[in-house]
Amino acid sequence: MKPRSLTHLLFATLLLALPVAVTLQAAETASSFKLDETSFRCMREMTPVRHFYVDNLAGNLQGTLAAANAPQGAVYPTGSVVQLVPTEVMVKRDPGFSPVTGDWEFFELEVSASGSKISTRGFAEVNNRFGKNCFGCHAPARQPWDFICEQGHGCEPIPVTHAMTGALQRSDPRCGAAEPQPGDSWELFKLKSLVVIGSLVSTVKGWF
Ligand code: HEC
Repeated sequence: MKPRSLTHLLFATLLLALPVAVTLQAAETASSFKLDETSFRCMREMTPVRHFYVDNLAGNLQGTLAAANAPQGAVYPTGSVVQLVPTEVMVKRDPGFSPVTGDWEFFELEVSASGSKISTRGFAEVNNRFGKNCFGCHAPARQPWDFICEQGHGCEPIPVTHAMTGALQRSDPRCGAAEPQPGDSWELFKLKSLVVIGSLVSTVKGWF
C-alpha cells in the first residue's frame, strides 16, 4: 500500500472510531433519572426505615421500601437512595452500570444550610473522608442484603452508634433548625472525639 493510502486509511479508521468512543462515553454517564447535587436533600424529609433513611430518584419509593423491609434481604430498585448520616450516600444506578458494586454509586457530600456539594463520587474506588474504602466495608453484605450493612449483615461493625447517627440526622444543616433530643450534644461530642482520636492514631501510625 502507498504511504498516502495508508494515511487515508488511518484517517478513515479514526473518523469511524470517534462516534463509537463518544457513544461509550455517553453510556457511562447516562442515567434514566436525574442525578446531581440537587438530588440530595434534608435527610429528615426522606423516608425513615429503622435507623436510616431512604428515597427513590426514579419515583419508585414503594420498591425501595419493599427492599429495605424484606426480611430475607432483596435487591434495591433503580433510583434508590440510602443514607445513615447526612454526608454519605448510596444511590442505585441503572442495571448493569457497575456490576462489581451491584450498581451502587457511593457519594461523599459536603452539607450546609445552602445545600449539598459532591466531594467524591464513584464506584469501587471511592473512599470516605477518613480515607477508608466504602465498597471494601460494604462488600461482605453483598448477598442477600445488596451491600446494605446495618448490623448483623456481615460487615465489620463501626464505632459509630445509632445514638450518634440519630444526633447527626437531627442536626442535618440542610433541614433548617436542628431538632435535638436530650443527649444529642453529648453524642456529637463523643463522635468528634472519635474522629480526633482516629486521625491521631493514623498520624502516629504514619510515623512508623
Ligand atoms: C469502616 C467501614 C465503612 C466504610 C469505610 C464505609 N461504611 Fe457505610 N457503613 C458501614 C457499616 C458497618 C454500616 C452500618 C452501621 C450501623 O447501622 O450500625 C454502614 C452504613 C452505611 C449506610 C446505611 C445503610 C447500611 O449499609 O447500613 C450507608 C448509606 C453507607 N454506610 C454509605 C457509605 C458510603 C457512601 C461510604 C463511603 C463514602 C461508606 N459508607 C463507608 C461501614 C462502612
